[in-house]
Amino acid sequence: MKIGVVGTGYVGLPTGVGLAELGNEVICIDKDENKISSLKAGKLTIFEDGLEDLFVKNVQNGRIRFTTSMQEGVENADIVILAVGTPPNPITKEADMKYIHAAAKELAQYINGYTVVAVKSTVPVNTGDSVEKIITEQHPKGEFDVVSLPEFLREGFAIHDFFNPDRIIVGANSTRAAQMIAKLYEPFAGKTKILYVHRRSSETIKYASNAFLAMKIQYINEMADFCEKSGADIYEVAQGMGLDSRIGNKFLNPGPGYGGFCFPKDTNAMAYMGRAYGVNLSLIEATIRGNDQRKINMADRILQTVKDIPEPKIAVWGTAFKGGTDDCRESPAMQIIQILLERGAKITVYDPQAMDNARKILGDSVAYAPDMYTAADEADVLAVLTEWEDFKTPDLQKLKSQLKTPKIIDLRHLINRETAQANGFEIFSLGIK
Ligand code: UDX
Repeated sequence: MKIGVVGTGYVGLPTGVGLAELGNEVICIDKDENKISSLKAGKLTIFEDGLEDLFVKNVQNGRIRFTTSMQEGVENADIVILAVGTPPNPITKEADMKYIHAAAKELAQYINGYTVVAVKSTVPVNTGDSVEKIITEQHPKGEFDVVSLPEFLREGFAIHDFFNPDRIIVGANSTRAAQMIAKLYEPFAGKTKILYVHRRSSETIKYASNAFLAMKIQYINEMADFCEKSGADIYEVAQGMGLDSRIGNKFLNPGPGYGGFCFPKDTNAMAYMGRAYGVNLSLIEATIRGNDQRKINMADRILQTVKDIPEPKIAVWGTAFKGGTDDCRESPAMQIIQILLERGAKITVYDPQAMDNARKILGDSVAYAPDMYTAADEADVLAVLTEWEDFKTPDLQKLKSQLKTPKIIDLRHLINRETAQANGFEIFSLGIK
């Protein structure tokens, strides 16, 4: 099929490359000329495991190409996927629809023959209605349908999740549109549950799912705090809970709070929609407040380990919002670093992939180390903030020789406590007294 993908970010690019790999003819469209020229020059604009190989392969076989021209991407497309950003309004936190509406307005004129416009961006319930209205106004004779096609890609695992979705949700209000999407997802038929629902239900499923996952993380973080007081071990508790199939064993890892461009944005947008409809989404509101406070609490924990040292020197492993990505947006690590700086700490950071993005935010307020051991040089404590595989089994003797004090606060439970203690480290963890 001929597919246009509007937006070449963390959702659009993996989606475009994945659809090309499935045999479709894909044109990725973006307004950002730098991004498009970089992609045309064969240089990826995001870091995603497995993306590079598929990108190169499908560019070479001519299945995917990149353009700033909406006309080129839309006029021959069977399906046009909208994967543009829906950033939070800085004041109200509601999802800002300006990019979605602008894209709908621009693409309308190029609709040529029956076209399905699939909204993949995470959008407020009833966005499909407004996109439909915009396109109809611009192109009254246009033959099209608008469907909701939410993505469930995790950053760092976008390619894996594209080819191994737990489920595909299609929000279609017309059979013809549903049949077109069914054709697109034929390669998944029989392997993945493809659920066809009303468009507004599909829009709601995305928000309800992300808000639930964020709530689950806040829940296990609160249980970790409880275990620290009660003397239980949160990792044993999480294991026991996870054996209940109704709870499931994923997203039960305590940490410094959830981050990234999705959970904070989507929980706030859902809370905003609840208030707009006069529905008290108290659990989501509490999740947002709890998660915001957690970053402050974690910074306090770190400072507590060096409380007798004026202007402590802190080594930080990890600036990305999670392991496996270079993305620092809404990163708990970055927020904790900024609180530590405000409290007078001197910081050296290391992250396997996210140093450039960290530097864009932190500038020269911190030092940047070329490797994890140099980051620890003369530090009073090492704080592990992001769950990178690289941090799981450090050379502890080498680390000890670098640190001023053999002290670690591991907010991601990566380093084996017993091994660290056997090597003379004082190690602080979450959820264990
Ligand atoms: C999320 C959803 O998982 C995905 O389905 C949706 O499409 C987009 O939003 P993502 O934001 O990439 O994906 O990251 P995710 O892997 O969900 O992690 C989000 C945050 O929660 C990270 O900061 C991570 O460190 C944290 N987290 C995750 C925990 O603290 N504990 C966990 O057990 C899992």
